[in-house]
Amino acid sequence: TPGVRPLVAGNWKMNGLKASASEFRSMLDGYGEDLADLTGLMVCPPATLVLAFAQMSQDSRLSVGAQDCHAEPSGAHTGDLSAEMLADSGAVAVIVGHSERRQNHNEGDEEVHAKASAAWRAGLTAIVCVGETEYERQEGETLDRVGNQLAGSIPDGATADNLVVAYEPVWAIGTGNTPTATDVAEVHRFIRTRLRERFGAEEGGRIRILYGGSVKPSNAEELLGVDNVDGALVGGASLKAEDLLGIAMTY
Ligand code: G3P
Repeated sequence: TPGVRPLVAGNWKMNGLKASASEFRSMLDGYGEDLADLTGLMVCPPATLVLAFAQMSQDSRLSVGAQDCHAEPSGAHTGDLSAEMLADSGAVAVIVGHSERRQNHNEGDEEVHAKASAAWRAGLTAIVCVGETEYERQEGETLDRVGNQLAGSIPDGATADNLVVAYEPVWAIGTGNTPTATDVAEVHRFIRTRLRERFGAEEGGRIRILYGGSVKPSNAEELLGVDNVDGALVGGASLKAEDLLGIAMTY
């Protein structure tokens, strides 16, 4: 999208130990000023590593995000983490509504909406994930599903600074299967239209829409070259500095 700085964000999911700091160090070292001028780069490690990685990246333009948050700022929620805690640890963003949370933790749009609001309350960018299942695509329900998720999961008041939308077709996650460039273009155009209608032509035109699902260096050029694709949310390929930087270098 013209005038929009793309973002390549790595979602490490439930992967990474203290020893992964060396891989993260390689990412920091490989993300030079020239590349940083062209594209943003973010790593979302497991919460156990957010503080350490945020400290390591203090003098870098690589940013650190988290993978989920609770909707409340504090309280009796054993095992949960608030957006405020993540911000305090140095995260600048948090993924909410990832399909793995929607499926494995029964998170619905209402909960995702509350988590996105919590992210904003704590000063974090909310990376809101949407995407259809394989069944929904087969039934021709992709745009309906994505439209409902957008309407239900994104609170009022979204801006290009506080919101990133990630389109992740569930069937493309971790499978090596990706939609065609034409299919990606159709969904991203649809999301762009909805964002413009709701948040204004200008602001809605600048909110980044990432594609996620089996992105790797070898297919990044094709997928990231699609209109209204403003970067990628990368799972498996974000664990290796070479792969994540390879994707970022598409720009
Ligand atoms: O959030 C990113 C993710 O769901 C995509 O995973 O492994 O297919 O790149 P992967």
